[in-house]
Amino acid sequence: MTIGVLGAGYVGLATAASFAARGFAVVCADIDEKKIAKLQIGELPFFEEGMVEVFAASSIPVVFTTDLAKACTCDIVFCCVGTPSAADGSADLFFVRSAAKACADVALNAIFVLKSTVPPGTSLSISKFVEGKLRVAANPEFLREGHVIQDALNPSRIVIGADDESVLSVLLDLYSETEAPIVSTNTVTAEMIKYASNSFLATKISFINDIANLCDVIGADVRSVATGMGLDDRIGAKFLQPGPGYGGSCFPKDVRALIHLGRSVNVPLRILEATTAINADRQLLPYRQLVESLRNLKGKRIAVWGLAFKPGTGDIRDAPALELLRRCIADHADLVAFDPRVRSLPAECGEVKIAAAAIDALHNADALVIMTDWSEFAEFDRAEILKSMRGNCIIDPRYVLRG
Ligand SMILES: NC(=O)c1ccc[n+]([C@@H]2O[C@H](COP(=O)([O-])OP(=O)(O)OC[C@H]3O[C@@H](n4cnc5c(N)ncnc54)[C@H](O)[C@@H]3O)[C@@H](O)[C@H]2O)c1
Repeated sequence: MTIGVLGAGYVGLATAASFAARGFAVVCADIDEKKIAKLQIGELPFFEEGMVEVFAASSIPVVFTTDLAKACTCDIVFCCVGTPSAADGSADLFFVRSAAKACADVALNAIFVLKSTVPPGTSLSISKFVEGKLRVAANPEFLREGHVIQDALNPSRIVIGADDESVLSVLLDLYSETEAPIVSTNTVTAEMIKYASNSFLATKISFINDIANLCDVIGADVRSVATGMGLDDRIGAKFLQPGPGYGGSCFPKDVRALIHLGRSVNVPLRILEATTAINADRQLLPYRQLVESLRNLKGKRIAVWGLAFKPGTGDIRDAPALELLRRCIADHADLVAFDPRVRSLPAECGEVKIAAAAIDALHNADALVIMTDWSEFAEFDRAEILKSMRGNCIIDPRYVLRG
């Protein structure tokens, strides 16, 4: 059986790597020529621990190509293209529709599996869009950036959504050797499982951030509160760390899209409305603390440690650090940033200097803000940091530093 993958991003490459590791012949196609050129010479378009090694070790080398037809004519085609937010908060399905059209044009009746995160009902709507020329199924992806290979090779669960018995049996067969529990259901339910999972995790983060706001006022230590709560296995310790809000390429857009879907069918999702409002407020917290401490940011040198939306990745899409940078730029601050995995920023942050090391960013700094909890930042102590700075303002919304 041959596997086609459309999209060579985090999910596409994870999908390609996991099937290649299991001995399948895989063709991975992307419209981005630069990405494919890198992959063809054995380089990744982003940092992800262990991925290069999995591709290098596969018995049948993965074919990387810009020729979509080569991937679309495989036995099963996984659609792993992006689903960004549209202006109204809904998921923009432009890339999914283009991928489906490319497939329907060359491979009549192909099994087209949506791994992209899509609103419930999308498999059915894509099937109509291609006038029934594809057999569309849903197989949402649950990997975590920073652990992509680990998660792709040992998934927590496999969710298969199919509205047709023959497609379901092909997909069950495809995953028959994996040890992960399999949930098989119809497409709309499979799509909902993914949205509900991401929305629940985002809500957990906003919950502890709301509790953190109260702890700060009444003098309670939110870290101990989180530890005490997390030891209850009905609650669990994960996603219970206070911080400057959730970011990244998934939670913000997926929560927005589910809220949009709920509104469109007259079922307002009140918890998720609160989750996004709390998140927007928490993202402003480091900026508010800076202004409280320095008053006027104009000309003040501000060091920012951490740009990625979480440790283990160089991904800055919707990262809370970008919100901080945008506000400080508007206030004409003098910004120097360091992140172990981020070497460049979007054009709107062009004036931010990038330091070669964490300690270099501190030179002459009036303030330090720690936006990503990279473990290497925890190795510094406050006294050592203050010795390298001009001012004495340290803002640490993720509680990275000891003491
Ligand atoms: N990144 C994650 O951690 C993660 C986890 C689970 C699910 N998802 C979901 O998976 C999907 C992909 O996410 P990602 O982070 O891998 O995105 P990405 O932006 O890293 O990659 C998407 C790729 O698709 C390519 N593409 C666009 N149109 C195409 C087409 N017609 N044919 C072939 N390639 C095309 C783009 O050039 C890009 O390289 C999204 O729906 C996302 O929500 C992401």
